[in-house]
Amino acid sequence: MMDWTDRHCRYFMRLLSPSAFLYTEMVTAAAIHHGDADRFLRFNNEEHPLALQLGGSNPDWMASATAKANEYGYDEININVGCPSDKVQSGQFGACLMAKPDVVAECFQAMLLETDIPITVKSRIGIDDQDSYEFLVAFVERLVSAGCKKFVVHARIAILDGLSPKDNRNIPKLNYERVYRLKQDFPELEIVINGGLADFTQVDEVLRHVDGAMIGRQAYHQPYFLAELEHHFNPGQALPERRDIVKQMLPYIESVLASGEPLGRVTRHMLGLYAGQPGARAWRRYISQHSYLDGAGSEVLLGALAAIPVAA
Ligand SMILES: Cc1cc2nc3c(=O)[nH]c(=O)nc-3n(C[C@H](O)[C@H](O)[C@H](O)COP(=O)(O)O)c2cc1C
Repeated sequence: MMDWTDRHCRYFMRLLSPSAFLYTEMVTAAAIHHGDADRFLRFNNEEHPLALQLGGSNPDWMASATAKANEYGYDEININVGCPSDKVQSGQFGACLMAKPDVVAECFQAMLLETDIPITVKSRIGIDDQDSYEFLVAFVERLVSAGCKKFVVHARIAILDGLSPKDNRNIPKLNYERVYRLKQDFPELEIVINGGLADFTQVDEVLRHVDGAMIGRQAYHQPYFLAELEHHFNPGQALPERRDIVKQMLPYIESVLASGEPLGRVTRHMLGLYAGQPGARAWRRYISQHSYLDGAGSEVLLGALAAIPVAA
């Protein structure tokens, strides 16, 4: 998720969930092709398994970005065909590409030549008035013919004209049934469903129909949900204490500070750790007030733990 799931966020999430498949923010192929590729591609070894999400529609740039990403050892490269923002549309990629399956397929095939890393696609179930199962199937079939075996499907359409990206994540109605039907009709494909998943019951239910569940906002706003999910699916994996997670972050934070990045770049992702718990507000407030002061270091997190009135 753009501006959210950077490498600091992912390091933190990996401590909460050893087995979740993590995704980078969308990186445009153009940024990698023309810019400082290392800035966009580097990650911590601890983050595996990790997918890089690429946005673009120029097969040469997508191939060149893939060739560079290949050197970094990602576990998957995912093509973004779901983002509805104006900026992305003016670059002719993201969700608007659902109407151009040939272009996505061409990118896919150009990328395949550059790597053995699995390449996957994240899409919506439709766009604008192209809101039928047949439209989704035509898109998927074209990508399957190019070699795609895994699809992450955000189970709502994108409205490309008139809705902000935020509204496009809330207003179009979720339609899980359409994604279930896709799995039924293409049992050989790996289908991961996304959109609106916020508790165990929902996750258990969707997993009766498809192969995987992708969780976005809930994982960011309430990151401890990831630890609970890990424990739910791997009961042998003890549920970690929140404060132990914080302590495990300290050496990482020291290394980030030593590289010259400010504390707030890491702590901003940790604000939700106590969400729903006693002390959540004290935790957030202490971090927000202290992380951006001159010379702020990892002691801020210890101060924030101490500020929580009830042992949590
Ligand atoms: C701040 C923010 C940034 C996002 N950036 C991306 C992105 O870079 N690539 C992408 O595929 N989806 C992106 N999304 C969409 C999410 O991946 C997900 O599809 C959507 O939020 C629905 O899932 P959820 O209900 O679990 O959050 C973003 C969502 C948010 C809230």
